[in-house]
Formats: sequence, structure tokens, C-alpha cells
Amino acid sequence: MYVLGIESTCDETAAAIVKDGWDVLSNIVFSQIEAHKKYGGVFPEIACRMHLDTIIPVIDEAIRSSGIEKKDIDLIASAKGPGLIGALMIGLNVGKTLSLSWDKPFIGVNHIEAHIYSAMMEHLNNLKFPSLGIILSGGHTMMVKILDIGNYKLIGTTIDDAIGEAFDKVAKILGLPYPGGPVIERLAKQGDPSKYGFKPSKIKKRPLDFSFSGLKTKVLYAVKGQNSTISTPYIIKEEDKKHIAASFQKAAFLDIIEKATLAASIFSPKAIYIGGGVSNNEKLKEMFLEKNLNIDIRFPKKDLRLDNAAMIAGLGYQNFKKNTSGDSLLLAPISKAPLG
Ligand code: KG4
Ligand code: ZN
Repeated sequence: MYVLGIESTCDETAAAIVKDGWDVLSNIVFSQIEAHKKYGGVFPEIACRMHLDTIIPVIDEAIRSSGIEKKDIDLIASAKGPGLIGALMIGLNVGKTLSLSWDKPFIGVNHIEAHIYSAMMEHLNNLKFPSLGIILSGGHTMMVKILDIGNYKLIGTTIDDAIGEAFDKVAKILGLPYPGGPVIERLAKQGDPSKYGFKPSKIKKRPLDFSFSGLKTKVLYAVKGQNSTISTPYIIKEEDKKHIAASFQKAAFLDIIEKATLAASIFSPKAIYIGGGVSNNEKLKEMFLEKNLNIDIRFPKKDLRLDNAAMIAGLGYQNFKKNTSGDSLLLAPISKAPLG
């Protein structure tokens, strides 16, 4: 079964053709990052205009480079949320329009669930349940018990900033460009992670939940002094930035690993699936492997870690197996969609 996936939840316009839920025939991503950089984050109106300008050529290229023809496509899957509402409407409506004009079924896909699925795609014939799912993205930080594809129990979430958001905010404090994750990772490679003793806050009686906002404030105070704001001048030397980056990254990842270890001790998952933009960080993978949890830890393939439409097409295939008539063309975008 050939599925066309469409992704437009935030600042990537993407389309992909995936066969049978795992075989990625094409995976085209147009990133808008350069257009948003000068605002230090995603500017929703610009994101929508750029989605409108690029979505048709991106879909066209995804079909052209897949080696199949339009008539071979069996299903169209669009991300339905969570994300920017205007941006979601574009991907959904393009998907619905193609469904109508090509007379093919249409299905909506949850973007966050698709991030977990991206870590499963390579292992479809050897999925293990129950497993632990860890979503580390720009908007979400969650741990879920996975009972099956589509069957999740939330066991931990952030009470304030998402982990990717914390990377982006720390980068801003250090005067580094958006998105912060990749620049912090690069800078941290040259730094000493033990130079600053940062620690994320603990939440009373909620050992599996996360809080990164306090950690970000600790970084701000180390860089600009107690009770400073983002516009206060630096009190550190330029060369200390790399130590701040390394110390922050280590503190954030130790927190994730500590909570994943605790979750694992509670329900003994048979595998851990990690997804979302922050899973693109090689240090995170290295630290997870060093921990020697004695559980299969699965990261998505490199080109499935950041926002992409292959994960949408892949999960669209799985959703369609359960809901063989597809979704109604009245399916509405949900900006704060829960999992599933
Ligand atoms: O999953 P994603 O592409 O989009 C959302 O669904 O949010 O995640 C984007 C987030 C951004 O906050 C970005 O800074 C972070 O992922 N990110 C990273 C890395 N690459 C992207 N964080 C840490 N290390 C990276 N290498
Ligand atoms: Zn994402």
C-alpha cells in the first residue's frame, strides 16, 4: 500500500511516499528555518504563507522522486495536530482536496504519535510491547507506556517548557540562532560539562514529570547574573559559553535518562522508542547507551528525527488498517491534540 504523507504542523513543509508503513520511497522536507531565524522562533503568519507557497511543489517532488505514479497512491495522510492551527489547516486541506480529486481515502495523523512511530518504522516485524515511548520535541516532552501502536498511557510530561524549547531558550540567552538544539550540541562538544552544576527542578510527588523552566533560569543567572533578564549584558567570557552549553545539555539529558530509568523500573518495558527533534542529538544517544539499561533502545533513522512526512505516511498506514474507511473530510485540525 502506497501512502502519501503530508506534514505542515510548524515550520517544515514536507511530503513523502511510504510503502506498507515502513519503506520510505521519498521524503522531501522544505525547512523554513532561515525565514524565521531573525524572529528567534517561528512566526506563524510567515509559516502559513510559506506552507501555501511550497506545499504543492513539495508534494510534486515527493511523488516524482518516489518512482511511483500518482495513480498508484492508495491513501493520503495529513498531520492533524498538534501544531499551529493555520499551518495545520493547509496540510489537512491539501490532503482532503487530493483525496477528493483522486478519489482516494484520506486519514488524519497525530504528529506527536508519529514521532514515536518514526522510531518503530525500521522494526515493524519486531515490535515489543509494553514499551516505553519518549517524545522529546520543540513543543512536547512526554513519557508514555506503549501497549500497541495507537494505545498509549501517559506516564510523564512537562509542567512548563518542553525540552526542545529549553534548548531554544538557552541558545537565545547565549546569543545563538534559532533553532537552539543543533547549535548547543555543536558548542557543547568543545565544553566541559562539569564546569557548571546545573540541575533541573524536581516536582514534589511527581517523579516522572519534567520541569525545564527553572533550569533555563539557572542558565540565565549563570550567564548574566542573579535576577537578570534576557537583555542584561553577559558576565561570562565568550569562551565560557561552550561550558554553559555542555553543562546545560548534560543536566537536561541526565534528567531524561534518570526518569526513563525510573519508568523502566516500574513496568519493565521490552523496548524504548525515542522520537522528536531532540532525538537528533548524538550526545543523548551516547548517554542512553552508556547507562546500560539492558533494554533495546531505538532511535529513528537520521532523516526521520526532525519533522518529516514519512512518519506521517507510515502512521497513516497503521491508522488506516484499523479504520479502513479513513477519516471524514470534515476532520478538523486540533492545535493541542492529545496523543492518538
Ligand atoms: O520534533 P521537532 O522537529 O519539531 C516539533 O515537533 O517541535 O523538534 C524541534 C526541536 C527544536 O526545539 C530544536 O531545537 C530541537 O528539536 N533539536 C535539537 C537538536 N535538533 C533539533 N535539540 C537538541 N539537539 C539537537 N541536535
Ligand atoms: Zn515534531
